[in-house]
Amino acid sequence: MADQHDVETTGHQWDSEEGYPLKEFNNPLPRWWLYSFYATVIWAVVYWVLYPAWPMLDGYTKGMLGWSMHQEFAQDSKAALAQKKASNDRLEKLSLKEIARDNSLLQHAMSGGKAIFGDFCAPCHGSGGVGVKAGGFPTLADDDWLFGGDLDTIYETIDKGRDGAMPAHLQGAGGAFSEAQVNDLTEYVLSLSKRSQDAAAAQRGDQLFHGEAGCNGCHGDLGNGSIKGTVAGSPAPPVGAPNLTDAVWLYGSDPAVVRASIAKGRTGHMPAWGSGAKETGKRLTPLQIKQLALYVHGLGGGQ
Ligand code: HEC
Ligand code: HEC
Repeated sequence: MADQHDVETTGHQWDSEEGYPLKEFNNPLPRWWLYSFYATVIWAVVYWVLYPAWPMLDGYTKGMLGWSMHQEFAQDSKAALAQKKASNDRLEKLSLKEIARDNSLLQHAMSGGKAIFGDFCAPCHGSGGVGVKAGGFPTLADDDWLFGGDLDTIYETIDKGRDGAMPAHLQGAGGAFSEAQVNDLTEYVLSLSKRSQDAAAAQRGDQLFHGEAGCNGCHGDLGNGSIKGTVAGSPAPPVGAPNLTDAVWLYGSDPAVVRASIAKGRTGHMPAWGSGAKETGKRLTPLQIKQLALYVHGLGGGQ
């Protein structure tokens, strides 16, 4: 208690009833605190001198470094544009396969392709390429392809367009077969996905499919489509006849819909987007088509 007298006080003192006076000490501030405080003051002064800081009547103090946020933004966006151009130049030069091997370039191409797809393709193929059954617009996000799912074929499909023509088979609708025969054909097609209710009818349909009607000429001997089909001398150019043995349907799996496809025929038209594009009035550059091909290929079903 004795050394209490050595402590510097502010001179102010409260008297307490117990006889212990309450004094206000005047200890010096800790050194570390004081030095940090001086450092912040110096920092502030240096900052004011170097960087834009104080508002003035005619603007603001610019600072000796001449730095400005606008300028930094302009530089950054110029750099980003230059980088984008460099990436696009490489996309133009490299083949689809080469691009697919370079992950960062592939990501760049696919993000561009995604945006173009949203603008030009999603109206028919649905967003993300999920397809629209009622219109016969195929899903692009599975591994079931009409014309082929490798990069070059996808590119060609987008560049030149595709036409799928399924002839009508019912008499009166342009075909040569009776109602009963069309029913038999329908039963056979359903049997390919194990959904036939009438084995005898499916048997008769089988005869027609591989015989008189010649469906196998387009859909393949096993009915698994013109690209997987096992027909000798399979028709060229590619006809885009779908696989009839799986669960993926262009127009619908319902027996009545399947029958309608056989009876009245179907036509599917994919517009051309490359140099030969006429109808859509919109033409895509080879670079854009490349980006689209890579995007579509990456949707999940690329080969
Ligand atoms: C006007 C509607 C329409 C638009 C727009 C359209 N498509 Fe198509 N696309 C189709 C149809 C219909 C088919 C199926 C053709 C057939 O039935 O033979 C198809 C087929 C395809 C195929 C072949 C699928 C396969 O299984 O082989 C690809 C790939 C494709 N489209 C990509 C695109 C891309 C990419 C775009 C955007 C540039 C696009 N389509 C725009 C209607 C369209
Ligand atoms: C000239 C080639 C060709 C012949 C012959 C042909 N088809 Fe097709 N078939 C197609 C094409 C192409 C499509 C797809 C049409 C489209 O793209 O819109 C198709 C579509 C279909 C569909 C609809 C499939 C779906 O996914 O919705 C069925 C069912 C079908 N064919 C059954 C038959 C049967 C049965 C025969 C024989 C009676 C037959 N086809 C003969 C080319 C052919």
